[in-house]
Amino acid sequence: MNQVIDVLIKRRSVRAYEQKEISADIRAEILKATLRAPTAGNLMLYSIVDVTDQKIKDRLAVTCDNQPFLARAPMVWLFLADYQRWFDYYLACGVEELCRQKKIPLRKPEEGDLFLACCDALIAAQNAVIAAESFGIGSCYIGDIMEQYEIHKELFDLPQYTFPIGLLVFGYPTPEQMRRPYTTRFDEKFILFENRYHRLSGQELKEMFAENEDRMAKGQGREGIANFGQAMYIYKFNAEFSVEMSRSVRLILKQWMS
Ligand SMILES: Cc1cc2nc3c(=O)[nH]c(=O)nc-3n(C[C@H](O)[C@H](O)[C@H](O)COP(=O)(O)O)c2cc1C
Repeated sequence: MNQVIDVLIKRRSVRAYEQKEISADIRAEILKATLRAPTAGNLMLYSIVDVTDQKIKDRLAVTCDNQPFLARAPMVWLFLADYQRWFDYYLACGVEELCRQKKIPLRKPEEGDLFLACCDALIAAQNAVIAAESFGIGSCYIGDIMEQYEIHKELFDLPQYTFPIGLLVFGYPTPEQMRRPYTTRFDEKFILFENRYHRLSGQELKEMFAENEDRMAKGQGREGIANFGQAMYIYKFNAEFSVEMSRSVRLILKQWMS
């Protein structure tokens, strides 16, 4: 095993941090590695907001589905899918007049551009995760940043062609965090297919979730919940935060496309 594989395999999400700052030198190294991430057309369709203001961290800890550990992280980076910078540049370069001359419609950022920018932002974010990990700094994604768009838009002054796609919190893990068992993964045969997609049969789904079902059967049952799938459906998929995330993303899309 080489060192890179070792860092990748040993990474886990870290949600409790030592009260130790991340030095400016290490931050700079993490940033350098982040910005070297592959990026569509070398456009760098993302921005990073380094959240240093404790008041903003405190607010995010509430607006991101009440996750107090977020506020205790020494480093918090917001990853934005960002087409604003390029579109502003196009406008500054006179593309409106150019389109008039060429008698073609002015094309603005659309759904495809948004997805591409999201790819860029998340690929850069994962570079940051791995770079931090290589310095012994743990991290955790906060997907709930896609919720509460109205609040986050105001909090970060987000213009039309930006999309808050990921929040990353970083810090040195506490010893307890280092002792936590690793999360499991589904067997690769359910994830990796050859040449074409394979839709799992009922029997395969049963096999895939057997461990989860087993663990759930051993634990405390919840009233009216018969199995792992029902628990996940009620407490994750159909939970308030998931519904809010979809509402918020719908709003962002509407604004992006307006
Ligand atoms: C897109 C995304 C969003 C996530 N959002 C949260 C979150 O809001 N809060 C949290 O505690 N963990 C969050 N996580 C971390 C996952 O829960 C974690 O990666 C998963 O349980 C596997 O555990 P591991 O990272 O320790 O291997 C998120 C991870 C991803 C990739």
